Amino acid sequence: MSVQAINKARNADWAPGTWRARPARHIPDDYPDPDALAAAEAELSGYPPLVFAGEVRTLRARLAAVADGEAFLLQGGDCAESFKEFHPNNIRDTFRVLLQMAVALTFGAGAPVVKVGRIAGQFAKPRSAPTETRDGVTLPSYRGDNINGMEFDFASRTPDPQRLLKSYGQAAATLNLIRAFARGGYASLSNVHQWNLEFVAGDRQSDRYRALADKISEALTFMRACGVTGEKVASLRETDFFTSHEALLLGFEEAMTRVDSTTGRWYDTSAHMIWIGDRTRQPDGAHVEFCRGVENPIGVKCGPSLDPEELLRLLDILDPENEAGRIVLIARFGADKVADGLPKLLRAVAREGRTVVWSSDPMHGNTIKTDTGVKTRRVDAVLKEVDEFFSICRGEGAYPGGVHFEMTGQNVTECLGGSDEVKESDLNSRYHTHCDPRLNASQALELAFILANRLKARA
Ligand code: TRP
Ligand code: MN
Repeated sequence: MSVQAINKARNADWAPGTWRARPARHIPDDYPDPDALAAAEAELSGYPPLVFAGEVRTLRARLAAVADGEAFLLQGGDCAESFKEFHPNNIRDTFRVLLQMAVALTFGAGAPVVKVGRIAGQFAKPRSAPTETRDGVTLPSYRGDNINGMEFDFASRTPDPQRLLKSYGQAAATLNLIRAFARGGYASLSNVHQWNLEFVAGDRQSDRYRALADKISEALTFMRACGVTGEKVASLRETDFFTSHEALLLGFEEAMTRVDSTTGRWYDTSAHMIWIGDRTRQPDGAHVEFCRGVENPIGVKCGPSLDPEELLRLLDILDPENEAGRIVLIARFGADKVADGLPKLLRAVAREGRTVVWSSDPMHGNTIKTDTGVKTRRVDAVLKEVDEFFSICRGEGAYPGGVHFEMTGQNVTECLGGSDEVKESDLNSRYHTHCDPRLNASQALELAFILANRLKARA
């Protein structure tokens, strides 16, 4: 039998559409014209893949190194991308803060950092309520720009299949720019000083970053004198940057799923990595069913309601062969709950001899509302959760392998605190998020420096 035939037999009961027979939470069922939806999905399935199987395999190999404790995963970006904020400057700014963070972490850890953006496809959002009421008017909730519109009127809140095609276009253009940045010179270490954002200039993080960039420049000058230059060594002038999003809107994911001709295996070509949210990880549900059949690395959000036995069941379904680099478990408990909830998951995974990457999402368990009803997060709580995540993992003999942040390169005021001390009264001055509050560039960089120190101390 050929490799292709063997791989086909392995997953004989799976196809990109088998999820449709399972209970599916948080997927809209109120498209007014189901035929128009089917037509848009059919059109998408003929579009070029956004990512290639070989790149996905590279990411899996990198994540396998993280699982072994030899690299660190940095995943970050918007809570939700939007059509309105789609602009090359926004993409560039998010990208360069991630580069700055990666430099700080690489330097601190003395180990490679795997860079994964929540970008180029992070549109769909699970919502706590299916409808929203304002002044006595009830409409469907906003579900993300690939489904419906944020404006509070009936037309905009009605799911529109054309939005699938528009989000494909935006993802393709975003990815194109990112690839250009990553490979075309922008991300070269010789530009390490240029990534410092103008608006951050003068603040403490910017000064700290400059000092680090000076050290790196000095090292590069020395290496150049020794004959090691960016012209000769690609890794000095390029970086690998991967994309990811929550695989929520399965009709879109299915349409982007293709067989890789060299291996005969299925890949979701909408992003390098996808993840399953805390609200859609039912073992017999549609999202788990879809994800089990594609070869991409799969993130699983782990919150307080996840029972250790259920986690093991999920691992059996999603990763039956226990392959390093396949699974990233993303702990999102909240600063006050992580000490209670994480150890039992770590122990269950260790007891079963499971190889996974453990990552911390210190954002989603720490969302609060101010007295005036504004959704925000305290940088202190975010920091406390990552810090506890590190201590708990190390106490249990597990490797704290990564972080997952909601952040932006823009100078927003959405999260409270940080060295530029965003206060409650500042929140409304630059509060732009389409969904959850994001760390701004300075707050994100500050966290990266703190993490870098922890990685360096290995404590
Ligand atoms: N290629 C290496 C890496 O990606 C070094 C590198 C080049 C780098 N540009 C970078 C590291 C930007 C961090 C940020 O790790
Ligand atoms: Mn979010």
